[in-house]
Amino acid sequence: MMIWNLGSINIDAFFGVTHLPAPGETLVAQSFSQGLGGKGANMSVAAARAAAPVSHIGAIGADGRWTRERLMEYGVDVPHIHQIEVPTGLANIVVDAEGENTIILLQGANGQLTDAMIGAALAEASPGDFVLMQNETNGQVYAAQTARSLGLRVAYAAAPFEADAVAELAGMIDIMILNAVEAAQLEKATGKPVSEQGIRDVIVTLGAEGCKWIKESQQQVFDAYPAQAVDTTGAGDTFTGYLIAGLDRGLGMEGAIDLALKAASLMVARHGTADVIPDLKEIQDQFGL
Ligand code: RIB
Repeated sequence: MMIWNLGSINIDAFFGVTHLPAPGETLVAQSFSQGLGGKGANMSVAAARAAAPVSHIGAIGADGRWTRERLMEYGVDVPHIHQIEVPTGLANIVVDAEGENTIILLQGANGQLTDAMIGAALAEASPGDFVLMQNETNGQVYAAQTARSLGLRVAYAAAPFEADAVAELAGMIDIMILNAVEAAQLEKATGKPVSEQGIRDVIVTLGAEGCKWIKESQQQVFDAYPAQAVDTTGAGDTFTGYLIAGLDRGLGMEGAIDLALKAASLMVARHGTADVIPDLKEIQDQFGL
């Protein structure tokens, strides 16, 4: 089956610093690099590296033509990435010596997708395919409605978190992935536990503690694999891309979560985002699948 990923594409600018800057502080970076990123692009690359067929639905500006080429080199289908007259999304990522980060985003072209662009992509989908979405683009409600009407499975990573976006989508999602902070925000905003949001499968990622799979009133905890974390940026996206790829390839939820945790444990030991997401071979070499 195919994964149709309605997702952001960002130019990630990484600043390595000794500590995260305080308000009003000017800080000299120890290092700088630039690469492919965006929660959507990271998930597409992760899914492709997990050997799943993935087609990215997104928008970039002329300054980001290279991002489309790089996605293609990484095995992602790119015919539904549109070049428009708005600059590519930009993320300034500051990472400190402990691997903590802060990210400032400029949405750019990611916020200019039209229903026609999304509809043209999903018109090529087949029942049982996945539609994957995050919160860094527009168009999620239209994509979810279209996906439902076509018999597609809908997976949604609720990041960056917006309670209203989750509320609008809740009845149309099969799988939601969010972190513990986002889960707490959702419970506060709705006054209901994540198990009662009308979503069949909810995965709450817990960083170094692993994750929780919540299905109706049942919940199962999965431990993380040990890792030497130097930079957690993109680890959640890697987890999600691998999770959906595993499900798409027919693994059960437990097997897909296990694969995703393995991929995330390798990812946190690396600096960078889409360009350093591990592939299946690296996971096999490390864990002997
Ligand atoms: O989750 C990491 C991603 O968040 C980065 O690649 C950056 O582009 C932001 O979208």
